[in-house]
Formats: sequence, structure tokens, C-alpha cells
Amino acid sequence: MKFIVLPGGSLQGEVVVAGDKSISHRAVILGAISQGVTTISNFLSSEDCLHTVSVCRALGVQIEQHEDQLRIEGVGLHGLCAPSQPLDFGNAGTGIRLVCGLLAGQNFSTTLQGDASLNQRPMRRVVNPLRQMGAQISGQQPNNSEEIFPPLVISPVRHLTGIEYALPVPSAQIKSCLLLAGLYANGSTTIIETKKSRDHSERMLAQFGAHIETTDRTVKLTSTELTACHVDIPNDISSAAFFLVGAAMHIGSHILLKNVGINPTRMGVVHILRKMGAKIEIKNVKNTPEPTADIEVKGTQLIGIEVPQEWVVDAIDEFPILFVAASCAKGTTVFKGLHELRVKESDRIAAMSEGLKKLGVVLEIFADGLMIQGSTILGGELESFGDHRVAMALTMASLFASAPIVINNCDPIKTSFPQFRKIANTLGLQIEEKAFEEL
Ligand code: S3P
Repeated sequence: MKFIVLPGGSLQGEVVVAGDKSISHRAVILGAISQGVTTISNFLSSEDCLHTVSVCRALGVQIEQHEDQLRIEGVGLHGLCAPSQPLDFGNAGTGIRLVCGLLAGQNFSTTLQGDASLNQRPMRRVVNPLRQMGAQISGQQPNNSEEIFPPLVISPVRHLTGIEYALPVPSAQIKSCLLLAGLYANGSTTIIETKKSRDHSERMLAQFGAHIETTDRTVKLTSTELTACHVDIPNDISSAAFFLVGAAMHIGSHILLKNVGINPTRMGVVHILRKMGAKIEIKNVKNTPEPTADIEVKGTQLIGIEVPQEWVVDAIDEFPILFVAASCAKGTTVFKGLHELRVKESDRIAAMSEGLKKLGVVLEIFADGLMIQGSTILGGELESFGDHRVAMALTMASLFASAPIVINNCDPIKTSFPQFRKIANTLGLQIEEKAFEEL
């Protein structure tokens, strides 16, 4: 499926984006292994999160779904059963890395695999520390490469042993994987970060009654049974970001994003936009285990900046759309310290720079970032590189384009934000969807 996006328009109105992807994955996993019935509201029914639901069902957990409400009959820490076939995570890096930690300490074997893109994502970052905990895991190492890729095969072990582990890259996926493994470990598991990554796992583990202690840079967990609870998921700031940035960079746009998660470890996009001159107001803040708020944005002319590297982790999924903001800003914006973008659903530095260059944007590529000059945006036919966030980010460039933008292969948008096109059109974009053969 491809998008054909007409140029111009503005964003106006109130927006309710869907539930947070990171929190939805975690709620299903913790609900599955807790004791009692967990209920979840505002669950994100995207392909990625639905794969986590299917995987938990394949592990013997009963899960009922009615629209965005889930009811999970938790089986307790030691109640999961051996699945009858390999577990399929689709495109979901978060799903496979978190569940890898969950399954590392089980007394049955499992195989974890994904689609062609996920099977090229690096897994050594979780396999190595899990092996240090005593897990028996192997993966694919083509041509004896040091990197390890899915499918991952986990063999049964009697138990794991807690470790103290300093994360080599700030990553909530690695941290969460090790915390889940820590639930099956003797002794405590301590994780040390150089920069605190998103802390949804820590907050939710505490909500489920885990023994967990956190400081600014460390998390320590000691195993205990978890107790079922109700999880109300905030709307996803990473989905809201496409409209937040779109409205912020466009004079005449004015939107209100309702009930968005504003966890401080996810607020990088707001800090960066404000430094670029954006007019953003945070209203109606509520602090229930995850803080939420309404975010009002009025469009203005953004200005180029040097993006402080301290905000990179807090904005890690928002760089594709921030690259678009830089392309429409006045002056030059420099992004550095973005090595991790090279190993997301696509190489996001390469994918976005190819798309933006085709739209006439002047930029320079570094190993760890981009320098982007505010430019006149043309139309053109672009590729998503199979990456949902690249597809959605390039769509938003149409606000400034002088001719239609066609984006090939927009199907992956379903992995995180199935309602994207509908909401974008309601706000004022003109996106038409076409199958390949129709053109
Ligand atoms: C996520 C963590 C981030 C982010 C991903 C979701 C999570 O990945 O990019 O989309 O839910 O823990 P890393 O932990 O690899 O940075």
C-alpha cells in the first residue's frame, strides 16, 4: 500500500492518538506472569502489540480482548507452558527483546523469530548479558559475524543468577529484558545506565508489587511473585509526535493532543522543539503511575539548533519527524550522537536522508547524525524502507511541499499507529491510500 499526499494544508483540532506501544507490550507481559486477573484499558491494538498478545497466548495465558480493553488471566511467575511452535514477533524489536528475557529462565525451550526486518536486528546486546546470568541462548551468526540475529533458540535452565550489569548503550529494551530475566534469578539483578532510558518497566513492575529499587542511574530487582492489577495506558507520545512536530513547525496550525504520556524519559521531542522556538503548552497534568497531560501546540517558524546530546535517549524514536522539522526550519540543525538510529526498524539516518534529499533538502550525513539546512520542500516519490516512522515522518513533510509526495510501502504503519492516516486527514492533511497495482 502506498500513500499519495497532497501538498499544503494545516493541522487544526483536537487529537486522541492511540495507547502507548512500549507500555502496552509491558502490560501484557507482566499481566501474563502475575497472579490474578489483570485488566488493561487503552491497549494499543497495533500489529507489534498484538504479536505480544499472541505470543503470551501461545505460552498458555488466556487473554480476552474487547476493542482496547484486555483481560488477562495471569499464570504466575512459573505458570507459562512450552509453546507448540516458534514464537513470531512480526516486526517488534521491543516484543522479541523483552520476551527473550522472560523466557531465558524457563524450564522449557523456545524459538523466537520475526519478519525479514526483525531477523536483521542486533540481539547480542541482550544475548550476552543473559548468558552471563546463566541462560542458554543461541542465534544466527552469518559468516561467523560477532553480531547475533533472530531466530533465537533458548534452551531450558533450572534457574538464572542475578548480575550487576552496566549497559553498553542506553536502551530500555536491554534494561527491561534483564529485569524480566531477573524475576527468574537467584539473588538480585542490578542494571546501571549512563543515561536513564525510558522507565516504564520499573514503574509497572512496582505497580505489580515487584521488589524494585531505583536511583537516577540504577535499577535493582529481587525476584518475587507479581500481583495482578489494572493498567490504564496513556496515549503514545511517539505517535502524537508526528502531529506535535507537524503543528509546531507550521504557521497557522493549532492542535490539542489529549491525554498523552509525558513520562520525563520520553520528553526529548518537546525539549528539542522548544529549543527550536516551538510554542507548546502542557496542560491538565495527571500523575498516575505514568504521568499524562494535554499538549497544546501553535505553529511558528522554527529555527535551526545544535541538538543537545543529553536529549537523544529521551527522543530516540522521534528523530525521523525531527529531521523533517529541521528541513522546514530557518537555518541549520545539527544532530549528533544518533548511532542507535542505524539499527532501528531501518537505518533511519540513511532512510530519512534519502527521502529528504529527494524532496530537495540540503543535508550532510555523519556516521552518528545529520546536518540539515532549512530548505524549500519539493514533491516526489519516496520509500519507507519498511519503517513505520520513516513513512509517517515523510508524510508530514507534505505540509510544506510544493507538489504531491508519494510514499511507497506504508503498510508497516500498522505496527505502531494503525489510525495514523485517518487522524491525519481529520486534522487537515490529504492522504490517499492506494494499492501498488492501482498505479
Ligand atoms: C523501546 C525502547 C527504545 C525504542 C523502542 C521502544 C521500549 O529502543 O526505540 O521503539 O519499549 O523499550 P532501545 O531500547 O533499543 O533504545
